[in-house]
Amino acid sequence: MAPNGRNLSAVTPWWRSAVIYEVYIRSFADGDGDGVGDIAGLRSRLPYLADLGVDALWITPWYPSPMRDGGYDVSDLLGIDRAFGTLEEARELIAEVHHLGLRVLLDLVPNHLSDRHPWFQAALAAPAGSPARARFIFRDGRGPAGEEPPNDWTSNFGGPAWTRVTGPDGRLDQWYLHLFTPAQPDLDWTNSEVREEFARTMRFWFELGVDGFRIDVAHGLIKAEGLPDLQPVGSAPAPDHTASHPHWDRDEVHEIYRSWRALADAYADPRIFVAEAWVNGPERLARYVRPDELHTAFNFDFLLAHWHPSPMRRTIAATLRAHEAVGAPPTWVLSNHDTVREVSRYARPADGRPVRRLDDLIARPADLAAGRRRARAAALLMLALPGGAYIYQGEELGLAEVEDLPDEVLRDPGWEQSGHTRRGRDGCRVPIPWSGLEPPFGFSPPSASAPPWLPQPPDWRSQTVEAESAEEDSTLTLYRGALRLRRAHPALGDGTLRWIEVQAGALAFVREPGFACIVNFWSEPVEPPAEADVMIASGPLQDDGRVPADTAVWFAVRPRPGLSSPGW
Ligand code: GLC
Repeated sequence: MAPNGRNLSAVTPWWRSAVIYEVYIRSFADGDGDGVGDIAGLRSRLPYLADLGVDALWITPWYPSPMRDGGYDVSDLLGIDRAFGTLEEARELIAEVHHLGLRVLLDLVPNHLSDRHPWFQAALAAPAGSPARARFIFRDGRGPAGEEPPNDWTSNFGGPAWTRVTGPDGRLDQWYLHLFTPAQPDLDWTNSEVREEFARTMRFWFELGVDGFRIDVAHGLIKAEGLPDLQPVGSAPAPDHTASHPHWDRDEVHEIYRSWRALADAYADPRIFVAEAWVNGPERLARYVRPDELHTAFNFDFLLAHWHPSPMRRTIAATLRAHEAVGAPPTWVLSNHDTVREVSRYARPADGRPVRRLDDLIARPADLAAGRRRARAAALLMLALPGGAYIYQGEELGLAEVEDLPDEVLRDPGWEQSGHTRRGRDGCRVPIPWSGLEPPFGFSPPSASAPPWLPQPPDWRSQTVEAESAEEDSTLTLYRGALRLRRAHPALGDGTLRWIEVQAGALAFVREPGFACIVNFWSEPVEPPAEADVMIASGPLQDDGRVPADTAVWFAVRPRPGLSSPGW
């Protein structure tokens, strides 16, 4: 038993109910004062995470990297970037995390490596058709002199997904595939060396003590044979993210995950995986979490659902159904380092328009006060649902997206690669405010030699961990309270729910034993259940106890004679 009462060897696997905190390491806490977050900073803040009440942390890539995509361009799979610390510090961090009764997941980036990785350097130095090139996806170009890319695929950050290289003889040569930046060449997962290298990598970190991996771009590893065009002449574009797409969510990818599951299960304290898979709907997602594949997968449909009871209920119900069919616990996620923070998403009208990227909504009027109320209600909704949940650093402080970062500080590769038309993801990656009244708000030590790598808005002074810890109705106090209640309440975490029909504009459900949740999106105030006590509320209730709009409430429902389950 760990010091805080968490039992590391409980009978129900911990990950079925886990609340996992995403640490975007560059922006979490800076120990050495260079304006960039690091392992030393993270270690100094571990007590904060234990006290918050999460079960585990997921650390975004900390491996050596030229940082062309925030570390998702890995040049050494088995090391730590100097900006973040040393392997010895990583080892100590893992031990400290475990001592606090928490677990730690790392980020595994199997779709691509950095172009500075020795493998890619070797591929550049080797001729077409060589084994060194066969680890990546090199192809001859189209056109008489090979001057056209091999197909019409585009990079996720804009522009073509192919870059032409100069051969060892100095002449223009083949093209290589990169679904992200040109600095991230895609690996060929039909190559056995690639498979062995990642198995070795997982074992290395598992032996260092990590409890699992988040799998980056889990839906992208396998490309259709022959690399067919996305848009064959005369037919409609292939539907996005389905089995018929030439590089997203192909059925052949699952065989890889079956082998990884066997690898993870071989450890006495089995290790776990969570898939980052942007796929088309919950049935496709559930395929990644079949019993012999990955353990859990991020539920991005929930993240993308508007603040509206119909899409929310539809998404929740479809997620539960699809996961139940394969016996896996669903997860719920409101934001991450790639998406607009939920305060800013919910501040926009729920009009069905896209909300994932800042560029989708930057020009639309925002009601941030409403966004904050809704984000708090969404947090209680998320933490009441069956399964596990993810919290992205700063979400527990109610931070909004920083939408007005000056052009010259933007670092997201999408900004450059789109020819300055897409502002990208920096607005959700601004360093965390810990304390004090002005930047760097305790992110860096007082002796820091550089400001935070992205500027923090001065008005974050009221949203620091220090300020919110002192306030009874802060978002941090709400998260701490909800996580404490969730841990103690037998109905919460893994399990099922039963919907209760209430008026349009609101959702309500019960979970056994004795728990009910009401989320009022916009309806007239909703009556609480009979014989129920408020456990926690995301905002003030009406004087008569009814739940107003933009508010969620958890209730402890007392059993009533003759009723085996709490009813309304
Ligand atoms: C994932 C990461 C994202 C990164 C991309 C390429 O989507 O979350 O930050 O840019 O993969 O590795």
